[in-house]
Formats: sequence, C-alpha cells, structure tokens
Amino acid sequence: MAPQLETIPRIISMTNQVGGSGKSTSGVNIGATCAEWGYRTLVVDADDQCDASVALGYMNPDSIEGQKTIFDCLTDKAVKLCEAIVPAFAGPAGAEGSKRLENLDLVLGSSEMENAEQYLTTEMGRELWLKRLLGQVKGDYDVIIIDCPGNLGLVVIGAILACDEVVACIKPGFKELRGLTRIEQKIEAVQEQFGEYGAHATMTGIILVDVPTSRSQGAVWDDGKNMAVQTYGDLVLRGYAEDGEKERYGVRRSTKIPESYAHQKVLLQYDRAGEATYDYVEISKGLGFSRQGR
Ligand SMILES: Nc1ncnc2c1ncn2[C@@H]1O[C@H](COP(=O)(O)OP(=O)(O)OP(=O)(O)O)[C@@H](O)[C@H]1O
Ligand SMILES: [Mg+2]
Repeated sequence: MAPQLETIPRIISMTNQVGGSGKSTSGVNIGATCAEWGYRTLVVDADDQCDASVALGYMNPDSIEGQKTIFDCLTDKAVKLCEAIVPAFAGPAGAEGSKRLENLDLVLGSSEMENAEQYLTTEMGRELWLKRLLGQVKGDYDVIIIDCPGNLGLVVIGAILACDEVVACIKPGFKELRGLTRIEQKIEAVQEQFGEYGAHATMTGIILVDVPTSRSQGAVWDDGKNMAVQTYGDLVLRGYAEDGEKERYGVRRSTKIPESYAHQKVLLQYDRAGEATYDYVEISKGLGFSRQGR
C-alpha cells in the first residue's frame, strides 16, 4: 500500500520480532533524514536497550537528574509524554562540540522498560498505552518513528496499535524472511481486535539491512533479495542503484554504522558522503519523504 502522506503526523513503527535486525539504526537515521528535510520529527525509544537514545546523544537515559523517561509515562498517568521529550544531539547531549539536531526530538528510553511487559499485563486497556501517550503530542510533529524492542509482546502491540505504518527491518536471509509472516499476522490480529479503537496500521516498507557487497557473499544475498522482492514486490525499499545493471535494495554493510553509534552520531553527521548514509536517504525517499520547501 502507498505511504499515507495525507496523515499528519505519519506514525511509523520500526519492527521485527528478532533482535539485531537494524530497527534502531534505521529508525534514527530515517528520523534524522526527515528532520534535515524539514519535517518536525520525533523518535520514540520504546526498547529497554535504549539504542535510539544512545544514538541521539543520551548514553545513560535513566541517570539524568529530574528527567522523565518513557517508563515514567507508561507507569504514571500524571506524567505527560512531553516531560520525557528531549532534543536530539549528534555527540553526547550538551557536551562541548556536540550539535543539536534541528527538528529532531526524542522520547527518552529507559532500561526499566524491561519491566514494561510485566507492568502492562495487569493494566486495563494495556494495548492502548502508546496511542494514549502519542495523542498528547501528535499536533507537534509531522513524523513520529517508534523504535520497538525485538519481540511481538505488549510493548510492540501497543506500537502497532498506535501507528499508521509498520516498517520491517531484516537482514537478508531465508529465516529472516520467514519471520516477516509473523509480523504480518500480528498486524492483522491487532487490526481485527482493536479496529474499534482506531488500529489501522499496514506494512508500508521492508528494509533489508547489512547487505553484503563483496562477491563472495553475493550469492546468498542475491537469493535473499530475490525471494524478498518476489514475495513482497515494491514493499522492499530500494537503497542504491549506481551500477545501472541491477536493482539495488536495502542498506549496504558498512563499518560506519557501528562506528557512528559508538560516536553517538547519526550517519548524516558522522559520514555524510558514505554509502550507508546514501542508502538511508534513498530509503527515506522510498517511504515517500522529500525535502520540504519551508
Ligand atoms: N548496514 C549495516 N552495516 C553494518 N552493520 C550494521 C548495519 N545495520 C545494522 N548493523 C549492526 O547490526 C547491529 C544491530 O543493529 P540495530 O541495533 O540497529 O538492530 P535492532 O534491530 O535495533 O536490534 P535490537 O533488536 O537489539 O534492538 C548493530 O551492531 C549495528 O551496528
Ligand atoms: Mg534496537
């Protein structure tokens, strides 16, 4: 289905039930691209590993004096989501030499989110937790990107219920592709069960990440890519197409990705002319974003 450009804000969940599939990397870098293009963008860190928070300048989100996190908002209805929103940085937040990223905010993550499932189990209307919170700030943003944990538990169900679009991130491989079926089933189940509460998300993109570029790894990659494209067609987002011969998909494997994370910088700030940076820009275009004329 085509991206729902008429929906403001567009709320996108970066999802996959397995860990290490590029959700956080994709979420922060697409978010940073949107922000640079003029969209007021919010990245929501819903994962207890807090990788999106780290990548946007906040190494230890739980230890910032007086600062609320997503977990506080989840567990205490008196805490408003805006109290957990902080400005995104390239480099450690507030440090000398770090740069405030214009148009980009972050809902600060928390390692306490590891207790979120347990907390939600006994809550009334537990699946609606994130929809309720995002409702408080929707008017302030054009794009909201939710970085989900690597499972399909209550936190992720809440994200699927709260969003318009699910973008799945996967490493190209047979096992990984099979996993997409489970995400699709979960999206359908959420729609069926919570349609009356406004659940309407569809899968609008698949990002193949960590795509090998060397010849020795090419065959396995090509099989994975072909299978993805055969099954999912245009949902598989194109990254680059510079050799003119082959359709190119996904984000190339690049050491700049772990390096940029270690430096707490998005790719546009760490390696502006790099291959993976280029791929994320193309993928953002594939999702229907473009430079805004304002
Ligand atoms: N294109 C790439 N090239 C090289 N390394 C990559 C690439 N994409 C992701 N990685 C690496 O793969 C690992 C997983 O990426 P990431 O943290 O974005 O995944 P995730 O799905 O958010 O994981 P989790 O489920 O643990 O939150 C990271 O170490 C990241 O640096
Ligand atoms: Mg992650």
